[in-house]
Amino acid sequence: MRVALITLSDTRSEKTDESGRILREMVLSWGGAEVTEALLLTDDRADLERELIRLADSGRVDLVLTTGGTGLGPRDNAPEATVSVCQRLVPGLAELMRSASLAKTPMASLSRAVAGMRGPCLIVNLPGSPKGTRECLEAIQGVLPHAITIARGGRPH
Ligand code: MTE
Repeated sequence: MRVALITLSDTRSEKTDESGRILREMVLSWGGAEVTEALLLTDDRADLERELIRLADSGRVDLVLTTGGTGLGPRDNAPEATVSVCQRLVPGLAELMRSASLAKTPMASLSRAVAGMRGPCLIVNLPGSPKGTRECLEAIQGVLPHAITIARGGRPH
């Protein structure tokens, strides 16, 4: 599984990108997964859209995980950028993250994270806090290999 990571933050630097570090660590622990690219972008919507399109259309990435920009702040644009570049949404992944997260904190209701597909590439938003990022990826990581096999046109059964 080829995974690209995008941290969205107007304030974090490579040094302070704890959520990006957690994502990389978790992905590498899956076995058979590689991190092909890790980007740190500002919360600018146009930049995210451009990078999502580039990564998805490269044919070299199966999964893009974004962290940050899912909340209610004026610069939180991750869901809008993701919806605008995807041809199909995968609401169940967002539902799974939200239901698992709500069992831990009512604050999870404040993440507007979405998941969708651009071509065969799956794009999933995660909240920006290290805790939220970890909890949400933990909630969906078990279904991702199956999701990606099917998205690529494979027949797992
Ligand atoms: N989801 C989980 N599992 N755990 C959390 O601690 N934090 C929430 C939410 N989702 C949280 C979570 C909070 S406090 C916010 S504001 C939103 O994610 C949006 O975060 P973001 O704007 O950094 O993406």
